Amino acid sequence: MTIKFGRPLQRKIGFIPGEAEEPAEASQHTPLDLPTRLRRNRRSDWARRLVRENALTTDDLIWPLFVMDGQNLRTPIASMPGVERLSIDQVVREAERAARLAIPCIALFPYTDPSLRNETGSEALNADNLVCRAIRAIKKEVPDVGILCDVALDPFTSHGHDGLLRDGIILNDETVAMLVKQALVQAQAGCDIIAPSDMMDGRVGAIRKALDSQGHFDVSIMAYAAKYASAFYGPFRDAVGSAKTLTGDKRTYQMDPGNTNEALREVALDIEEGADMIMVKPGLPYLDIVQRVKETFAMPTFAYQVSGEYAMITAAAQNGWLDGERAMLESLTAFKRAGADGVLTYFAPRVAEQLKK
Ligand code: PBG
Repeated sequence: MTIKFGRPLQRKIGFIPGEAEEPAEASQHTPLDLPTRLRRNRRSDWARRLVRENALTTDDLIWPLFVMDGQNLRTPIASMPGVERLSIDQVVREAERAARLAIPCIALFPYTDPSLRNETGSEALNADNLVCRAIRAIKKEVPDVGILCDVALDPFTSHGHDGLLRDGIILNDETVAMLVKQALVQAQAGCDIIAPSDMMDGRVGAIRKALDSQGHFDVSIMAYAAKYASAFYGPFRDAVGSAKTLTGDKRTYQMDPGNTNEALREVALDIEEGADMIMVKPGLPYLDIVQRVKETFAMPTFAYQVSGEYAMITAAAQNGWLDGERAMLESLTAFKRAGADGVLTYFAPRVAEQLKK
């Protein structure tokens, strides 16, 4: 192909498509008088690596896993190709894989048997529930991988909401009392990071106080500080089985996608209440929030590349519409560029394997 950039205008206008061009033409052009040519830093792989500003590493990854009852079971999740629900023994295998790949932390989400779901989500407080049993099993076999657990009632309620529902209203303070107990059973089971994802007001402070009163000073809190009422959680709700049961939407507690300043107020409150780390969710459509939060608070800041984002990239790749491996790495690098310290992503093991090469 001929490089047309920099050719005199006259010649360009006179160009007839399909006309054979003289090979000498390229050398006849007058070079532009450019003191700066940014392409110099991009001309080779070594130069690009040398000037690269942000890079993704395995240390940036948190790997979410779905747990279910049973033994030696793995069931695919249709809307998340490549992701499966796993029985506890299989989750332990994946935790070992995380350790081998040097992924620092995994996140556990339960698929609760429908017979155990009820109006109040009381199974969340059972010290022997699926998540607690999984934590204990993993800690026994793979003690050096961090474990993060969601605190919210949605995998346990018959209505699929994160909080207690009365007359169509999600109760705030009554829900916080439940969440505190949920956090405590998880901490007692050995969870390292408590991650309240419910968006009730005051829950971070209440959880911190309760953890400390029980001597769990070393259990961290990663607050889902700015969590939006998003359509991108769809596949996750398939995975934990709340998609079909969810009545209405979560807009009275999760944030309005139109808001930015409100995200800063949410984050400020969670920090005041004792959060060690904060999270923005979803990820890619909310990179502006990640950037503003990081710049404003300089806290350890995480982004959640949610199920819908995973599904979009994976579905397009399966159709041959984009290069899945490259899209995966590019999307995760974007989080680093925006200022995130780490990312919760279903791609975690694939990325870690890719980065190892
Ligand atoms: C539950 C919770 C959700 C996600 C994480 N924790 C769903 C929701 O709020 O409805 C979404 C994660 C994902 O989509 O990957 N509170």
